[in-house]
Amino acid sequence: MEQYIIKGGNPLVGEVEIGGAKNAALAILAAAVMTDETVLIDNLPDVNDINVMLDAISGIGATVKRVDCHTVKINGSTIGGLNIDYDFIKKIRASYYLLGALLGKYKRAEVALPGGCNIGSRPIDQHLKGFRALGAEIEIKNGKIVAEADVLRGTHLYFDVVSVGATINVMMSAAMADGLTVMENVAKEPHVVDVANFLNSMGANIRGAGTDVIRIRGVKSLRKSEYSIIPDQIEAGTFMFAAAATKGDVTVLNVIPKHLDSTISKLIDIGCEVEEFDDAVRVVSKGKLKCTQVKTLPYPGYPTDMQPQIGVALALAGGTSTITESIFENRLKYLSELARMGANVKIDRSFATIEGVRKFSGARVSAPDLRAGAALVIAGLAAEGITIVDDIVYIQRGYENFEGKLRSLGGVIERVVDAKEIQKFKLKVG
Ligand code: EPZ
Repeated sequence: MEQYIIKGGNPLVGEVEIGGAKNAALAILAAAVMTDETVLIDNLPDVNDINVMLDAISGIGATVKRVDCHTVKINGSTIGGLNIDYDFIKKIRASYYLLGALLGKYKRAEVALPGGCNIGSRPIDQHLKGFRALGAEIEIKNGKIVAEADVLRGTHLYFDVVSVGATINVMMSAAMADGLTVMENVAKEPHVVDVANFLNSMGANIRGAGTDVIRIRGVKSLRKSEYSIIPDQIEAGTFMFAAAATKGDVTVLNVIPKHLDSTISKLIDIGCEVEEFDDAVRVVSKGKLKCTQVKTLPYPGYPTDMQPQIGVALALAGGTSTITESIFENRLKYLSELARMGANVKIDRSFATIEGVRKFSGARVSAPDLRAGAALVIAGLAAEGITIVDDIVYIQRGYENFEGKLRSLGGVIERVVDAKEIQKFKLKVG
């Protein structure tokens, strides 16, 4: 099993190029099959989740042509099956976006029910509520969701929970329903807006994405498009907090600063200097970080996907900080791993109290999920001594060349596969 080995202590300094947003790309790749013409998508992140989604899309017969590791051409006219099997859903839940895409285009789809994951039970009741509101019959049997409709009709839908996935999935089906669909209490994340913009570039008629109400006038067919994925604000924020925790000076390039507003505000709260440019943000961290209170909320609130990263910075800050994780029920587990590096934390379900400590000491830790894994790497970069992070397959799902980008900033980190390589690293770094 691959691991990261890290020698901590170096401040991260320099510039790092941010890739395309994984969570926008997963939905956009699914939506690309809704036309029978060819769609070209670029600025894709070269990460495992994207490759699995492309396998799922070619698995139903769509034509997928990799132009390069960040660019793909998709043509949905060759789709022969409407059944997304469990293997894909097990690998990435987001393959459930094909449910909304295929239901919209073919008025039928069969997708394995996604299970929960390490951060929570991840129900999809709001997705199904939306499809039913559009007139689809939904049957759940043998671990599969079968959705079909003679006709999808526009509806007025109020989500009970603000859900990124449900907003995007139902928006895709509504894009090819008959008539007007109004969706309220929707998610407003940048990647929801990116999916709406992509669908509109194919001829859909979607207004209001990024606000509380999305209006969709269904169209009969969608057409070819060339589209570039927005930058990944979560990857950017991860490097920004790495600068904060290692007393560094890092500029993230190719970002949309507006998407980072709540992250920038918290970095300033904890004492970092932040400078915004048109498509870059610089974070300088000098002296002791300051404590603060964090509550994760739907966008534009503080993102749950940035919660572990600030948790690591707060564990090194002066004073007492608190984190309230209001989105997922099990997303504070990484703090127990951080405690093994010397952090002083108390967890009570979705609420954590963090007493800042002077330093972490390197240890062997395990990545419980994608963002927590990245956060533990940040902890290793800030720690004294050697840290080994297990289960880095989670991190590779969402971060392209993570260790290479950190090395370019002065981080002493390598991917290793066995004890021999660990020994070699230790001899090299002394
Ligand atoms: C997306 O997950 C992201 N994944 C997650 O990022 C991100 O953490 C999350 O949005 C919140 O921003 C992708 O985009 C692939 P939700 P999603 O539906 O859509 C509840 C990462 O690290 N809910 O917005 O599954 C749910 O339990 C990943 O990149 C229902 O109750 O999240 C949660 O409490 C991790 N019923 C809340 O809503 C539903 O039908 C928000 O979930 C759907 C969701």
